[in-house]
Amino acid sequence: MRTCNSNAQLHAALKCYRSEGQSIAFVPTMGNLHEGHLDLVRKARTLCDIVVVSIFVNPLQFGAGEDLDAYPRTLAADKEKLFSEGVQLLFAPGVEDIYPEGMDKQTVVGVPDLGDTLCGTSRPGHFDGVTTVVCKLFNIVQPDVSVFGEKDFQQLSIVRKMVTDLCMPVEIVGVATTRDEDGLAKSSRNGYLSREERDIAPLIHQTLNTCREAIACGFDNFLQLESHARMKLLQAGFEPDYFAIRDARTLRAVTEDTEEIAILAAARLGNTRLIDNVRLSLN
Ligand code: PAJ
Repeated sequence: MRTCNSNAQLHAALKCYRSEGQSIAFVPTMGNLHEGHLDLVRKARTLCDIVVVSIFVNPLQFGAGEDLDAYPRTLAADKEKLFSEGVQLLFAPGVEDIYPEGMDKQTVVGVPDLGDTLCGTSRPGHFDGVTTVVCKLFNIVQPDVSVFGEKDFQQLSIVRKMVTDLCMPVEIVGVATTRDEDGLAKSSRNGYLSREERDIAPLIHQTLNTCREAIACGFDNFLQLESHARMKLLQAGFEPDYFAIRDARTLRAVTEDTEEIAILAAARLGNTRLIDNVRLSLN
């Protein structure tokens, strides 16, 4: 596995593979890799000849007072994991490579509507930071395919929309959420949880599943389901940001045209913000 720390290095390495006609799959990450990330890498390996993984903690997607400085940086351990998974190229640029002129005057790519709800409401500017860096990374790597996790379902939807709207020549592939045995979605932020919080954390997934089962059984008072779920999370010690039953395609209210429902939740447990979602097909 080769590590490239600058755009120029990566460019040179990729030119070689491209001239041999090899296809390229790309997995963007912020590092502190866990099984969820590695499942994306494993999927990427089945799709293309060459797998490129990026590790870049993107300051543009963190708001004031969020965990940018505390975000876990574990490059040596990450490298070992990626090497074991057979990744050919790791791209680990510095902030100055991605934002050479700083972030203030950076051109920003924004996806309206899908980006203005759910996490877009509680984290203003977050998704513009994500789409801007993903757009840059796509332009640097120029992958045939890029793999994203369904755990960040809104992010995946927004990236798909950006790619469609801006005619980007890359195929986006989603991968199911990887969970611990008790159902907690794997996340780099789980490491912030105290032991007591870790015991409570799986309740998010349980509450999502309970709601999903109720809808599958025909219960259609969504407002009641949402407020009941929020109450359960509050009582357990969470501060819920949202618990929302939405159309999986639009991320807006369910209508009679809805083919798939997404139930999405974000909640703070102590200082840790957790998100998760489950989906239900109506066909
Ligand atoms: P990060 O949180 O490191 O996640 C990188 C990728 O791993 C994302 O596509 C995310 O959805 C996926 N992922 C994380 N946990 C997962 C899990 N438990 N199961 C399946 N997939 C999981 O998401 C980001 O970084 C950034 O916003 C990024 C896209 C890299 C842009 O900076």
